Amino acid sequence: MRIGTFAKELVSTARQLATPGKGILAADESLTTLGNRFSKINLENTYENREAYRSMLFTTPSLSNYISGAIQFDETLKNKTPEGELLQNILKKSNIIPGIKVDKGLSLLSNDETLTTGLDGLEDRVKYYYSQGCRFAKWRGVIKISNKTPSTLAIEENANSLAKYAYICQSNGLVPIVEPEVLAEGDHDIDTCAEVSTIVYSAVINALHKHSVLFEGILLKPNMIAPGIKSQKKASFQEIAQKTLETLNRTIPPAVPGIMFLSGGQSEEDASCNLNEINQINKGKGPWVLSFSYGRALQASSLKAWHGKNIKAGQEALLHRVKMNSLATLAKYQK
Ligand code: 13P
Repeated sequence: MRIGTFAKELVSTARQLATPGKGILAADESLTTLGNRFSKINLENTYENREAYRSMLFTTPSLSNYISGAIQFDETLKNKTPEGELLQNILKKSNIIPGIKVDKGLSLLSNDETLTTGLDGLEDRVKYYYSQGCRFAKWRGVIKISNKTPSTLAIEENANSLAKYAYICQSNGLVPIVEPEVLAEGDHDIDTCAEVSTIVYSAVINALHKHSVLFEGILLKPNMIAPGIKSQKKASFQEIAQKTLETLNRTIPPAVPGIMFLSGGQSEEDASCNLNEINQINKGKGPWVLSFSYGRALQASSLKAWHGKNIKAGQEALLHRVKMNSLATLAKYQK
């Protein structure tokens, strides 16, 4: 098995990323997504502004006390600090493992459902990213809940793509973050989210087995189990935590070292409260490290505070959020 060449390194990287008390900073927004976020603070979507923003995030003092890895976008590898140092080097020097988004976004599958693209040329890209110092990758598959969806086709196709991606990454030294995101959009209740997520995660795990992926050398990045954002029936942090753990316990092998949740549009505080509750209920039980790989729930207030120029305020806001989530991974967060 080709993965054998990298097996030891993959297991060690995955364990480091899942260090208790630390999480992952997802800063891999595509150019369009970052542009949308910038437009909310009336900032132009230019190369210089994107570089300045990422530089602000990555040079935050003491970030590595709470962050084990950072996910970058392809463009980020060229970005530098105002002093001319590559951001990628800033991460390495501060002991934060550099990661990279390797999927190429969503394409239409059928019936309003999507399939993630990017398998073409993936092996070459992964080799290149490894040569540049990246040690883990991310690929996001998206599943939508509605009256007609998800279809078996969308579940199977997305699971297979995630597994192919994971195998290619592991064969070339990158730990794959496997991200099957069941979207929070919709008016479904929490039990529907649990039911769909159970089917989706099982399909993903099955596909990973078929592709001989090394479970000890991946990280899972799932949604939490929660009602859709338009649902009339709200759920408490406790209910969300219980259903999330129940769903994961039913589907995810203990060999996976870490489960790093996405925030999926939750507010910064809700994302911390939910993660705290998950770790509170699961205290002393294992088998995984339960942590975060948040994008919006780490960056929202930081972006606002930075506003294109105020580096110190942006960094203070980011540091506050990563600290709160670090506490949440230890079940010690209080609102
Ligand atoms: P959110 O935490 O904002 O959902 O983003 C995480 C991510 O990386 C989505 O792919």
